[in-house]
Amino acid sequence: MKEINGKTRLCGLIGNPVVHTLSPMIHNYIAGQMGHNMVYVPFHVEEDLEKAVRGGYALNVLGMNVTVPYKKEVMDFLVEVDDAAGRIGAVNTLVRTEHGFKGYNSDYLGLMKAMEEEHVVVKGRDVVILGAGGAANAVVYLCGQLGAKRVFILNRTIERAQKLAWKNAAFFPNTQFDAMEMQDYGKLPEQKFIVIQTTSVGLHPNCDKAVIEDVSFYKKVEKAVDIIYNPEETRFMKLVSEQGGEVCNGLTMLLYQGVKAYELWNDVVVDEQICQRLKQLLKEKVGS
Ligand code: ATR
Repeated sequence: MKEINGKTRLCGLIGNPVVHTLSPMIHNYIAGQMGHNMVYVPFHVEEDLEKAVRGGYALNVLGMNVTVPYKKEVMDFLVEVDDAAGRIGAVNTLVRTEHGFKGYNSDYLGLMKAMEEEHVVVKGRDVVILGAGGAANAVVYLCGQLGAKRVFILNRTIERAQKLAWKNAAFFPNTQFDAMEMQDYGKLPEQKFIVIQTTSVGLHPNCDKAVIEDVSFYKKVEKAVDIIYNPEETRFMKLVSEQGGEVCNGLTMLLYQGVKAYELWNDVVVDEQICQRLKQLLKEKVGS
């Protein structure tokens, strides 16, 4: 373990639960590789979020990640919220500024970088988003930001999909947003889509499930991303591959949401080689 001394800076993750997080591995690895005197630890916050945020600031904490269930509520305790994070309605990264923490959404920033790396290009394309929960907020916003032509949001609970569609239609007048019930996937136009799977269906340990099972849907999938990274190949991914579509999991997004947070805290650019080595380590960790 690296030496901790009087100059060591502290970063951490606020959430409940935090025991399964891979963020300490990500940040401590980057800090070690870049020679930064920084450590990253999980902070289990039972309920008093305000005291946790203000206490972290008072303790000269450099930056924090925020996870479930606090990504929305935390915005009340910040001096500033980045435009994209505000529009997405969720903050997962707090950056120390002169008078308090500023909030960002590194899930969004990380997904943008991951899609670039995985060659998923949504500009001018028709995209299907499966799910309308917390994670979908950043994904739908990103599709608008990247200039998708049309975004179909499919969700079991139609109201959540409608809310997301209306909200983003106001931000991105050049993109058409449509809300549909998940079971109505058969009503999608007869064409090829880019599909982003954001529901929790298929997540370990319920690996034998996909939110849509019907092969006819998968015939329309040209390229897909499942934001789940455990298991490495979800049932959704298997179904896409079986019909000839290209597909990747959420590991690259996990990597880059961490990298983007690290870069914001330390005002650096993390070297590409470090990112690729870390990706390999994460893959091994998730598979173990
Ligand atoms: P997250 O922050 O991971 O997105 P969430 O906000 O609870 O978590 O959202 C989970 C998403 O998975 C939602 O889109 C949810 O659909 P509902 O809005 O209808 O609840 C979807 N989901 C979870 N379990 C599902 C299931 N068994 N079938 C279909 N969709 C499911």
